[in-house]
Amino acid sequence: MSEQTSPTTSPTSSIFLNTDVPNLARIFDYLAGGSINYEIDRQAATAMLTIIPSLGKWVRLRRAFIQEAASQLHAAGFRQFLDFGSGMPADDHIHAFAPEARVVFSDLNPVAISYGQGLFTGQERIAYIRGDARQVEQVFAAPEVQRLIDRQQPVAIGLNAINLFLNEADNRRMAQALYAWAPAGSKVFMVFQTRADREMPAEYERFREMCRAAGLPIELHTYSQSIEMMRPWQPANIQPIVDFLALPQDFITPADETEIGLAFYAAFLEM
Ligand SMILES: C[S@@+](CC[C@H](N)C(=O)[O-])C[C@H]1O[C@@H](n2cnc3c(N)ncnc32)[C@H](O)[C@@H]1O
Repeated sequence: MSEQTSPTTSPTSSIFLNTDVPNLARIFDYLAGGSINYEIDRQAATAMLTIIPSLGKWVRLRRAFIQEAASQLHAAGFRQFLDFGSGMPADDHIHAFAPEARVVFSDLNPVAISYGQGLFTGQERIAYIRGDARQVEQVFAAPEVQRLIDRQQPVAIGLNAINLFLNEADNRRMAQALYAWAPAGSKVFMVFQTRADREMPAEYERFREMCRAAGLPIELHTYSQSIEMMRPWQPANIQPIVDFLALPQDFITPADETEIGLAFYAAFLEM
């Protein structure tokens, strides 16, 4: 992560753009059923699936959360969304579920950014910008954010699958900076992707090594770390993702959880 220091110079561009090495964003795109991925990514995804066979299921659950959350926030009156780590801007993303809202997507990944910028050209209410969740102030200053986000109105802030790419200190800094910037009444919506609070099995390190090799190191946090890192945001509503999505209780099996003790929580945080 240390080489990903600036969203403008992004030395990781070569990793994102190089199709000779797997890329985690394209791997997740493949796992979510998308088409912006290469053979090298599909091979890496297959290797990851040997450790977490239900990875695709988890990725799809998170996308389902984003859709339902966007829809609920839109119904509750939110008319502006600022999203970090948006990934591939497929047509089932936030804008499709919040039709009257202005939406700014952001990511570090030049492939997602250029795809998003192409997709939303000429769309007055949607923008896709380069943005690093470790440098949110630069995102706030972006012309698209200045144009589309009204600081007098609450903002719905999406942080889905960002926590796991940031270490604890960066997560804390991000949460505090967002809180200081956010207009009154704003909310964060995110999936807490947690690991069990116990010593991790060797598979966890193997999985992390694969992610490192695909250009983006990850770190899973426990449930209590996840809440703690996001302070001063206050939990408004946090529940197991199956409850939030009204899925059967046995939808997630012990095999899905693996030895890592993976769990997903639908989380809404308020000021
Ligand atoms: C797994 S995808 C999630 C996409 C989408 N949010 C979702 O949940 O379906 C994670 C995205 O986070 C992006 N990312 C990783 N580190 C980031 C950072 N420091 N700032 C912004 N985006 C980052 C990656 O490029 C990737 O596109």
